[in-house]
Amino acid sequence: MLPSMARRIYLFLLVCFCASHALAADTLYQGGDSLNSSNTLVSKNKIFILGFVRIGSVESSASYLGIWYYNETSHPFWLANRDKPIADNSGVLALDGSGNMKLTYSGGDLVDFYSSPSSTTNLTAVLEDSGNFVLRDKNSGGQQDLWRSFDDPTDTFLPGMKLGINHTSGQTWSLMSWLSDVVPTPAGPFTFEWDPKGKELVIKRRDVIYWTSGHLTNSTFENIDRNTGFLSVSNADEDYIMFTVSSNQFTPQYQRNFSRWQMKYDGNIVDDFTKQAYGATSCKGNNADAGCEKWSGPACRSSMNSFEMRRGSFDNTVFSMDNNSSLSISDCMDICWKNCSCSGVTTTGNNDNNTGCTFFYGNLTPDPNGSADQYYVIVGQVSSGKRYWLLIILAPVGFVSMMGLAGVLWYLRRRRHRAYFIISIRAEKYLNELLTLDSTNDTPELENDGNKGHNLKVYSAATIMAATNSFSADNKLGQGGFGPVYKVV
Ligand SMILES: *[C@@H]1O[C@H](CO)[C@@H](O)[C@H](O)[C@H]1NC(C)=O
Ligand SMILES: *[C@@H]1O[C@H](CO)[C@@H](O)[C@H](O)[C@H]1NC(C)=O
Ligand SMILES: *[C@@H]1O[C@H](CO)[C@@H](O)[C@H](O)[C@H]1NC(C)=O
Ligand SMILES: *[C@@H]1O[C@H](CO)[C@@H](O)[C@H](O)[C@H]1NC(C)=O
Ligand SMILES: *[C@@H]1O[C@H](CO)[C@@H](O)[C@H](O)[C@H]1NC(C)=O
Ligand SMILES: *[C@@H]1O[C@H](CO)[C@@H](O)[C@H](O)[C@H]1NC(C)=O
Ligand SMILES: *[C@@H]1O[C@H](CO)[C@@H](O)[C@H](O)[C@H]1NC(C)=O
Ligand SMILES: *[C@@H]1O[C@H](CO)[C@@H](O)[C@H](O)[C@H]1NC(C)=O
Ligand SMILES: *[C@@H]1O[C@H](CO)[C@@H](O)[C@H](O)[C@H]1NC(C)=O
Ligand SMILES: *[C@@H]1O[C@H](CO)[C@@H](O)[C@H](O)[C@H]1NC(C)=O
Ligand SMILES: *[C@@H]1O[C@H](CO)[C@@H](O)[C@H](O)[C@H]1NC(C)=O
Repeated sequence: MLPSMARRIYLFLLVCFCASHALAADTLYQGGDSLNSSNTLVSKNKIFILGFVRIGSVESSASYLGIWYYNETSHPFWLANRDKPIADNSGVLALDGSGNMKLTYSGGDLVDFYSSPSSTTNLTAVLEDSGNFVLRDKNSGGQQDLWRSFDDPTDTFLPGMKLGINHTSGQTWSLMSWLSDVVPTPAGPFTFEWDPKGKELVIKRRDVIYWTSGHLTNSTFENIDRNTGFLSVSNADEDYIMFTVSSNQFTPQYQRNFSRWQMKYDGNIVDDFTKQAYGATSCKGNNADAGCEKWSGPACRSSMNSFEMRRGSFDNTVFSMDNNSSLSISDCMDICWKNCSCSGVTTTGNNDNNTGCTFFYGNLTPDPNGSADQYYVIVGQVSSGKRYWLLIILAPVGFVSMMGLAGVLWYLRRRRHRAYFIISIRAEKYLNELLTLDSTNDTPELENDGNKGHNLKVYSAATIMAATNSFSADNKLGQGGFGPVYKVV
């Protein structure tokens, strides 16, 4: 097993905001006003900053023009030149006298944001407290936005942005993930889009549907845990969705309260306010719950198979590497999925920027201490049947405690009595918890005993409480010999 890998510190996230000092202004004016790597624009109430930012591995000095939250340096939510990083500090954003706004560097022009068709303009480019960088013409009343950063989203969806399509111009608004946590190139494997026909949000991986939100009905999506705040517009000109925020809420001090969705490189849409994640958290193989699409793959991948993150070591030395830096962790998982001899995968240890794949072909010996390397491992080989079923025995409500469970086990062992009740698992987060041994660590011995002695899983009271919605009457399926039986939701 790659001994060097275990010791190697591979993740160098360097987001350097060091040289910047604030201009203490939020506006660039036509006529030679410019921004270079030593200064920034700050929105009126200090919510957002526009400036040059360096992202990448230690060796990389790739510089990007970006927008980020004032005190939050981890991940700029907008990048102007994500596909064309600047290798030095020569980047300049300028609004010249003829009304052209462009990003230039030592090698010439990099991005043309806007070219004025007339010489009589009086343009201003303002970084607003919404996070939108907007170009307007004072001479034509300043009403019309000539260019908006919100129309060219990166991987983050904020209130005021749209996801969808402008039928007149053909412009689409969608998010595209970074390639890895330190590589922002728009070659990321995931996109987040609005499907106007199905009226649903869709995550695609390399153009294949990966997750869907379910239809928007009454401001809610079936697979999104949030029951308000969506506006969808559909007419001859446009089809889009946006977050709605009432105008009295739209004050600077509340700005950070609003949901901010980020399309992560690993395939999750994360709501940074509620901390909920949709997509890759559940969709790791053939799970079709929670909006997931089953992965296409060879027949050796049964309907039970999926990837799980596990710590341990592979018990033989057979592995192979693909150092292609266009491959993200999700691409690696997909390649592994399609090769019946592959059992696990990681990006760790290849390229410094967490791209490229290492594939493993043996069995993983788990590390109970939790200090070994982590891998995505294909689990659940032993199955048939379409839906996932778990066998759980529950004691009567009053006895569901560790003692109660121990009693049941003891009883079972003595009597060799088998009475299993079938419980359908629907919600992936509980499924994950139920299948991951280390998350049920408050009953470790019972758990092992349960697995070995009875082919029976035992879960902590807290897990079961959560999974059965605190034994809500709605989840009660019936009464059995050992007590009531609950549906795990
Ligand atoms: C940025 O511009 C200022 C003047 O606006 C100048 O003093 C400074 O040297 C420039 N910095 C770089 C890195 O070009
Ligand atoms: C940024 O941090 C400073 C100091 O920690 C704090 O006083 C200020 O309120 C923060 N600003 C925002 C917009 O959160
Ligand atoms: C542009 O507009 C600003 C304020 O709106 C005004 O002060 C300035 O004189 C105008 N410049 C030109 C060239 O019209
Ligand atoms: C849609 O595109 C047309 C043509 O470019 C433009 O006039 C219109 O303002 C756009 N609508 C929106 C909401 O951007
Ligand atoms: C829509 O949601 C509102 C507020 O939650 C509720 O009062 C109303 O009954 C819902 N309508 C439908 C058709 O579900
Ligand atoms: C929203 O932000 C304000 C100001 O920071 C805070 O007072 C309020 O409690 C927040 N609301 C929620 C729901 O978190
Ligand atoms: C690297 O992977 C990309 C995406 O799969 C592929 O298009 C490209 O040809 C590969 N490059 C090499 C050198 O194999
Ligand atoms: C699966 O991986 C093994 C080991 O690298 C390789 O020899 C084999 O050709 C792969 N099979 C397919 C179908 O790609
Ligand atoms: C891939 O990268 C690893 C680690 O840097 C190196 O040991 C290996 O030789 C590389 N493989 C190829 C085919 O370049
Ligand atoms: C990622 O790292 C590899 C090798 O370490 C390098 O070849 C590649 O250019 C890097 N990609 C980016 C976008 O920095
Ligand atoms: C786990 O920890 C124990 C005690 O610290 C140690 O003896 C054992 O070797 C460790 N096992 C692994 C797989 O690291």
